Amino acid sequence: MTDRNAAPLLSVRNLTVNFGGPDIVDDLSFDIGQGEIVALVGESGSGKSVGSLAIMGLLENATIQGSASLSGGASSGGQEAPTELVGLPARRLRALRGRRISMIFQDPLSSLDPLQTIGGQIREVLKAHTRLTGAALHSRAIALLEQVGIVDPEGCLALLPQRLSGGMRQRVMIALAIAAEPDLLFADEPTTALDVTVQAQVLRLLKGLRDQTGMAMVFITHNLAVASAIADRVIVLYAGQVVEDAPADVFFRRPAMPYSRALLSAAPRLEAVLAGYGHLEAPRGQVPSPGQRGTACRFAARCDDVRETPCLASMPSLVSIAANGEAHHTVRCARWEELAP
Ligand SMILES: Nc1ncnc2c1ncn2[C@@H]1O[C@H](COP(=O)(O)OP(=O)(O)OP(=O)(O)O)[C@@H](O)[C@H]1O
Ligand code: SF4
Ligand SMILES: [Mg+2]
Repeated sequence: MTDRNAAPLLSVRNLTVNFGGPDIVDDLSFDIGQGEIVALVGESGSGKSVGSLAIMGLLENATIQGSASLSGGASSGGQEAPTELVGLPARRLRALRGRRISMIFQDPLSSLDPLQTIGGQIREVLKAHTRLTGAALHSRAIALLEQVGIVDPEGCLALLPQRLSGGMRQRVMIALAIAAEPDLLFADEPTTALDVTVQAQVLRLLKGLRDQTGMAMVFITHNLAVASAIADRVIVLYAGQVVEDAPADVFFRRPAMPYSRALLSAAPRLEAVLAGYGHLEAPRGQVPSPGQRGTACRFAARCDDVRETPCLASMPSLVSIAANGEAHHTVRCARWEELAP
C-alpha cells in the first residue's frame, strides 16, 4: 500500500517534549508513508501518547522542539505544500485537525462532550469539515455509525455519551475521528475497551478505510497480535526514544534490538492474545523513569546482552541497518551487528 521511495506524509525529526522537568520524549525521528499503517508499540510510559499528542499540537504546558512536517496527503492528491506542525499557531492547527490529521484518544469518555448528544457531536465535525447539510449530513452520520458497528445508529444519535457502554463510546470516537476522512489518523489504543469480536471488526474497518481512502495511520498499541494484524511497519519506543523501526514482516521474523526480541519472546502465544490476553508482557525489570535515564543505553539494566563496552560507554544512536535492496530498518543498539542471528 505504501511506496517508501515517495515523499513521506509525516516526517518527524528530533522531536523532544518537556513539561519543565527532564525530557519525556527525546530525539524522536520517524517517517509515516502515504497510506501506511504504522504500529507504535512500547511499554507503559514510553512516550507513545505524549509523542503523538505533541505532533497533533494537543499538549498544554509543554515545550516541544524539533520538527514534524506534514506533506500533502491523499485528499490533495499529494500536491499540498508541507506544513511544519511544531510551532504552528493554534488557529491553523485547529483547521488541520479533523480534516488532515485526526486522533482517536486513549480515554474515550473524557474526549466526548458530556453535554451534547452523539448526533450533535457528529454533526459538528461534519459541518466543520465537509459541505454536507440537511438530509445528506444526517445520512452520513448514520453511515458512519453503521461503519463502526453500531446496531441502532438512529437511536444512538439521540443519546448522551454517558448512556453508552465503554465499547460503544470507543466506536463513536472512531466514527468522529474518521468523519472527515483525514489523511493521517493517530489511533491511541483504539480497541482496548472492546471485546475480541468487535476488536477484529474495528481493525477490519480501519484497514478497509485505508484501502478505500489512502488514509495513513499510526496505531498505538500494547498488543503485538493487533500490531501484526494491522501494521505495515512497527516502531518500538523505549524510555522516550525510537529503538527499532522495521517493516512488520522483518520485525516479527528477525527483530534486531534485544528489547524487541524480549517483547516478542515475552508475548503470549497468538491464540491466547486473540482470546483476550493480549497486553504486551514486559521483560524483567522496569523502564527507567524520565529522570533516571542516564547517558548509556537505556535498556542496559534489563538487557541479557549488555557489555560494559560499548553498552555503558555512551548512548547508542539510531542507525540504519537495512541491507541492500531491503526496506527501511533502523535500530538503536551498539551490538546489533554482533548479535544478528
Ligand atoms: N502532562 C504531563 N506532565 C508531565 N509528565 C507527563 C505528562 N503526561 C505524561 N507524562 C509522563 O510522560 C511519560 C510518557 O507518558 P505517555 O502517556 O506518553 O506514555 P505511553 O507510552 O502512552 O503509556 P501508556 O501505554 O500507559 O499509555 C510518563 O512518564 C508520564 O508520566
Ligand atoms: S546497546 Fe547493549 S545494552 Fe543496549 S540493547 Fe544493545 S546489547 Fe543491550
Ligand atoms: Mg498512552
